[in-house]
Amino acid sequence: MTSGRWHADPAIYNREVPDQTSPIILAENLTKVYRSGRIEVSAVRGVSFAVERGEFVAIVGPSGSGKSTLFYLLGGLTRATNGRVVIDGVDFAALTDAERTRLRKHRIAFVFQKFNLLPTLTAMGNIELAYAVSGRKEPLDHKYLDHLGDLLSIRSRLGHRPSELSGGEQQRVAIARALITRPAIVLADEPTGNLDTKNSEAVLEMLVLSNRELRQTVLMITHNPEAAQVADRTLHMRDGEIEKVENGAVGAAGGAHRGASRAAGPGPAGV
Ligand SMILES: Nc1ncnc2c1ncn2[C@@H]1O[C@H](COP(=O)(O)OP(=O)(O)OP(=O)(O)O)[C@@H](O)[C@H]1O
Ligand SMILES: [Mg+2]
Repeated sequence: MTSGRWHADPAIYNREVPDQTSPIILAENLTKVYRSGRIEVSAVRGVSFAVERGEFVAIVGPSGSGKSTLFYLLGGLTRATNGRVVIDGVDFAALTDAERTRLRKHRIAFVFQKFNLLPTLTAMGNIELAYAVSGRKEPLDHKYLDHLGDLLSIRSRLGHRPSELSGGEQQRVAIARALITRPAIVLADEPTGNLDTKNSEAVLEMLVLSNRELRQTVLMITHNPEAAQVADRTLHMRDGEIEKVENGAVGAAGGAHRGASRAAGPGPAGV
């Protein structure tokens, strides 16, 4: 997944050469304390784990257990109070804000529960904007977008604004927006939280497909036990800590998902 451009960037070359042997995500003693006035909330308390390249990891846990906070920390959207996040061998804390933003844009895509599409742009406009913001020099690959559009059944809906789309369609657009840049890491916070069963399955299958076919690393926060079943590993959070790690949680339902995703057709174009 390493682009020539990434290597060719002299300003951050020394610190950002991906090391293929190291975990793609490493969290070490990650701690986040929110402070407002005198009140302190320890949302994440000394969490450590590694995610290998191409893994599909689910994060589950009760409301308030620190899942979204962990997601923001891993994605570089907020700074850790203590500990560190290392992405592809690069320590977020060692980067300037601009470098951190670059690393994020190049390597990570986000999917949020509330879709976060810009209301004034069409679905296509949202996807194009995300692609432009990612800073990739090559033009948007429309064949690949058509392919994503077909897999997500939104191809005929791309000319519409979010308000003209159903919740499921908006989330499927958000998935296309996340995947169009072919990110190394997809971070998803409750991507099926607002969806019915059919749309949940479509979103999950696309995430599984991107994981299997593009070898994208996927971290997905979920309350949905079926969603957790498609994962290679499930981290259980409670009170800001990882209380349990389940390896190979794929059961019969997960197997069915994988089978379905494989049957969905050839891998995305150009990969
Ligand atoms: N910006 C903030 N300022 C202060 N406290 C916060 C902030 N964001 C989250 N918290 C608190 O941190 C704790 C963890 O919140 P977080 O959003 O990470 O939980 P979560 O596991 O994602 O929950 P949910 O399943 O409801 O989305 C909670 O006690 C929450 O109230
Ligand atoms: Mg949350």
